[in-house]
Amino acid sequence: MNHVLVTGGAGFIGANFIHYLLQAEPDAHVINLDALTYAGSLENLKDVADNPRYTFVQGDICDTEFAGELLKKYQVDTIVHFAAESHVDRSILGPRQFIETNIIGTFSLLEAARKFWLQEKSLSLENLRFHHVSTDEVFGSLAPGEPAWTEETSYAPNSPYAASKASSDHLVRSYGHTYGLPFTITNCSNNYGPYQFPEKLIPLIILNALDGKPLPVYGDGQQIRDWLHVEDHCEAIHLVLKKGSTGSTYNIGGENQPANLTIVETICEILDEISADPSYKPHKNLIEFVKDRPGHDRRYDMDTHKISSELGWRPHHTLTEGLLATVNWYLSHPEWVTAIRQKQEYKGWLDANYKSR
Ligand code: NAD
Ligand code: DAU
Repeated sequence: MNHVLVTGGAGFIGANFIHYLLQAEPDAHVINLDALTYAGSLENLKDVADNPRYTFVQGDICDTEFAGELLKKYQVDTIVHFAAESHVDRSILGPRQFIETNIIGTFSLLEAARKFWLQEKSLSLENLRFHHVSTDEVFGSLAPGEPAWTEETSYAPNSPYAASKASSDHLVRSYGHTYGLPFTITNCSNNYGPYQFPEKLIPLIILNALDGKPLPVYGDGQQIRDWLHVEDHCEAIHLVLKKGSTGSTYNIGGENQPANLTIVETICEILDEISADPSYKPHKNLIEFVKDRPGHDRRYDMDTHKISSELGWRPHHTLTEGLLATVNWYLSHPEWVTAIRQKQEYKGWLDANYKSR
């Protein structure tokens, strides 16, 4: 792993991964290709901006030629592909961008890699890896009592977001099967932690609670997700890059499945305890049950035996400790929070998704 192209590195998980990789691989050069959509911010990488082993390039993964030039210019041997439209609710209100970025974008990047790695052949094949970061949502939804998803479970995506990710997974696999592109795929559960854009449940609830705004819980709040701290996700991806077998997929999950309402109530309790401002205590009084997400998946649960038995990975963070650390992170980064809140695009999203709910 000498020259690593990270796509979507200015987003939540990508930025955490770049921080992680620069530490974990002291000789690697990391090139971050990001279009800086509403979800990407260079604020997330301020502290590594001057690192000589880090290069930022603004660009679109849908541009095969541009991606190809980057691969050649930096002699890229490893691609870690995070760039995507990632929010389910946005995919319900406007699916087209998800098809463009997640499907066409992944296809374009695969084409660039095929040309540079497999046709021009200037790097030796055994040192190359296209790692695709995917989601547990490709598996659909579990009924009560159904067993957790394994790597063998059939895909049954329910939202336009999940369908676009499933499609991209199939494209990656097909490039391995047809052209011999060396790839790995990880399907991961819900991440939380520093730098998460506050459209997703955990940061949205933290920021609304601090402002005394309603805490919107969709439907009955009994939907179940599997929660994973982003640092554990970064560690798992790194391990798959180092030791995972080419052509394999690995499930990654946090080994905990609370109901959404429990997550929201836990955040309220943490804020009751640590927030200096007494105005909105108890914060749970701010909870509001609102209209459900259309097609809302009921339950997710990941079977992570493969990555733990093959690669020895297990999550380190417990949900209790991880949530406390995350609330503290948002409390201690007011400038980061203010910068996002001031963006017109963010205010517009809150109106579009919540005003008539
Ligand atoms: P995010 O929305 O926070 O960040 C996405 C990043 O991709 C942004 O920096 C954005 O600017 C960039 N981007 C978007 N379109 C682009 C394009 N056309 N060209 C270049 N860059 C572009 O996303 P995230 O939550 O960090 O998720 C990262 C990846 O992990 C996604 O592929 C997502 O499907 C997957 N994933 C996320 C989670 C989660 O809980 N957040 C869980 C499992 C898998
Ligand atoms: O499972 C992995 C997926 O997790 C990733 O692939 C996605 O990129 C990521 O966004 C996330 O998707 P979810 O839809 O599960 O995450 P979100 O934070 O949007 O919602 C989590 C749960 O909380 C979900 O059941 C919907 C619910 N929810 C969400 C919001 C934003 C609410 O009840 N109220 C809300 O306001």
